[in-house]
Amino acid sequence: MTKTYQEFAEKNIPVIDRTMYQFLEESGKSERLLEAMNYSLEAGGKRFRPLLFLATVSFFSQTLEKTHYEVAAALEMIHTYSLIHDDLPAMDDDDLRRGKPTNHKVYGEAIAILSGDALLTEAFHLMATMKIDSGVRTELIRLLAKASGSEGMIAGQVDDILGENERISLKDLQKMHSKKTGALIQYAVEAGVVICSQQFEMKKWLLEYAQNLGIAFQIKDDLLDVIGDESKIGKKIGADEAHNKNTYVSLLGLEGAKNAFANHCELAEESLAKAKELLEIKEPTLLEGILEELKVI
Ligand code: IPE
Ligand code: IPE
Ligand code: MG
Ligand code: MG
Ligand code: MG
Repeated sequence: MTKTYQEFAEKNIPVIDRTMYQFLEESGKSERLLEAMNYSLEAGGKRFRPLLFLATVSFFSQTLEKTHYEVAAALEMIHTYSLIHDDLPAMDDDDLRRGKPTNHKVYGEAIAILSGDALLTEAFHLMATMKIDSGVRTELIRLLAKASGSEGMIAGQVDDILGENERISLKDLQKMHSKKTGALIQYAVEAGVVICSQQFEMKKWLLEYAQNLGIAFQIKDDLLDVIGDESKIGKKIGADEAHNKNTYVSLLGLEGAKNAFANHCELAEESLAKAKELLEIKEPTLLEGILEELKVI
């Protein structure tokens, strides 16, 4: 694999975006709703999860096709819905997201809630229309529901909200991070493994890679809330402390959080090395590129 992650992102983001916009345009009925959904999607974002999925498919030397972009698009739609709801006054009450006023600041709370609901629902609608083997399609949908639902991302969001104003243990914080952020990141990799029909051992190493990647991703998010640059991350800093959130920084301090971040990145690297051994890949892959990109704080 010769392409760098940067080049890969530049090439694939427009295709992921087109897939989302076209699907919503075709299935959208209310113009106001469509405008609100597109507002948050078009605000940008790193497209980390869909790119991670496409990078996983590429890891198995598979050519990217329409179906892959549909899974990628669904994943980003669910992630974007989670951000719209996460920013609501009843949750983190944030005003800035992806460098723009949050959805509810522009469209009001009711439309923000509904545009999140619609993005979530339409993501599954899109996956249900995919023209692939029906067994694989059902499995991809089942895993996405599991990752985004009440044992995955939502469970983590509940723990995050209920944990405000009380101190939880490091073990519980890690569990919370692996659900609220890790679950969708793990799905990105697992969906790649499933769609490429990989076997048990490969799945084991890549899921371990994804698990550590997911936790590292949220530790970095916690760190950036303290040391990040608002104009770069596109959201207000200091929000976690203002809400008495449990974060790696609040539990371990800045240095402790940085060490935990480095540790999870290293564990991810080790698991990826095992997966590469199985395929006898010697050269760097996009999955390492993603990790390198993540390491830059
Ligand atoms: C932010 O996700 C919320 C978390 C789960 C940490 P991202 O950092 O991926 O946000 P965008 O998509 O780039 O805006
Ligand atoms: C959000 O975590 C995780 C989601 C599932 C959306 P945060 O609340 O820390 O994300 P930001 O910092 O607002 O992006
Ligand atoms: Mg939150
Ligand atoms: Mg938040
Ligand atoms: Mg955060």
